[in-house]
Amino acid sequence: MDKGKIKIDLSNYLNNDIKTDFAGYQPKILEAINKLYNSKDQMEAMTGWLNLPHDKKMYKNIAETSKKTLDEKKYEHLLVIGIGGSSLGAQALLEGLNTPLWSRLSKGKRKGALTIDFIDNLDPQIIRTVLSRLKLNKTLFLIISKGGGTLETIVPMLIAKEWIEEDFYKQCIFVTTEGKGLLYKLGNEKNIPMFYIPENVGGRYSVFSPVGLLPASLCGLDILEIQKGIEDADNLCREVNLKTNIAAIIALSAYFSYASGKNIFVLMPYSTCLKRFVDWFVQLWAESLGKNTKGSTPLSAIGATDQHSQIQMFNEGPNDKLICFLKINKHKRDLVVPDFSFESEELKLYANHKVGKILNLELDATRKALGERKRPNILITMPELNEYFLSQVMYHLEFATVLMGNLLGINPFDQPGVELAKKYTKEALS
Ligand code: PA5
Repeated sequence: MDKGKIKIDLSNYLNNDIKTDFAGYQPKILEAINKLYNSKDQMEAMTGWLNLPHDKKMYKNIAETSKKTLDEKKYEHLLVIGIGGSSLGAQALLEGLNTPLWSRLSKGKRKGALTIDFIDNLDPQIIRTVLSRLKLNKTLFLIISKGGGTLETIVPMLIAKEWIEEDFYKQCIFVTTEGKGLLYKLGNEKNIPMFYIPENVGGRYSVFSPVGLLPASLCGLDILEIQKGIEDADNLCREVNLKTNIAAIIALSAYFSYASGKNIFVLMPYSTCLKRFVDWFVQLWAESLGKNTKGSTPLSAIGATDQHSQIQMFNEGPNDKLICFLKINKHKRDLVVPDFSFESEELKLYANHKVGKILNLELDATRKALGERKRPNILITMPELNEYFLSQVMYHLEFATVLMGNLLGINPFDQPGVELAKKYTKEALS
């Protein structure tokens, strides 16, 4: 069955005083794409995430493990402890596809899949509240850290262990690097089931490894659809034709805007479910591209909520942004506004319209207003918000980030700027 296609619309980007030369940059983009795919099996290149769409064995293995775990009916909750790239991708998928209200649904509505909480910070109030709210003996703990010894991950894990006492490790699964680090050592000693993150997949590029897939699958998402989604996205990313390569179009639009002085990149989906997805993107873009005093600053916005907030700044503040809108063409389980016009003539305006459709009309209207003020913006449209399309958009954004790094002449896979503060914290603790 034809699932439809993700589309990108540049009509509000061109004609906005940005010097562009998409055709002229085609050879450079082509060279970057070839270089990426040629390096995907080299350890030091950190491009192993390009192998993930084709690792069907890994997807099958994770789907089977999670089915077995759910069939045993031992657990009701999943608590994911991890930070940054070891948490945000899973949050993006789960909130995006299960909605932020998943854990409030009944077990029947969840079809037996687990509720989920994340601890991704050292906020003592949150750690205490999450742990005291859960039925701890019915909780599966998923501890995720590529390095295996991250402070913000190890500390809540130790607190949870103390709260549960002797059986804690029997209720754990670790996701880490094979053969290295504290979690791997502990996992081996205590016989904890472990899933591995390939060494050449960096944290913020790891959502389609067990880091994102295991929580997704335990909470009822169809990870085989995710695999199909990113496999199709990967085929598009190899495309040399700049009219169809969505990642290349995003990267070039971002690059030319940045070169024209627009040093803020706003990602603005029209859906509350995609708030965490934007947080995931902000980390991906910022940590990959903010180097050598270069890089456009990512900014999160949500439509229509931010039409009553940041849009004022986008419309009439400094013209220093490229706004990337994200539209869901057909909203799932849409609602129809009831006709109460017999109570007031003013209510006639809304009667019988679909809510999702009104949301999309607001998006179109916002774009029109921005266009009239020469505020450049691009539009990505996904046919529906589901596993297949959300994972595709995420993959295109990963690829676009790496291409942008290439255009800026920086390495998108390291993060020297976050290491120094980590070092100082450890020094202060000791
Ligand atoms: O993208 C990155 O590399 C970082 O955001 C890491 O994911 C984050 O620092 C967590 O690291 P780790 O998975 O080693 O605990």
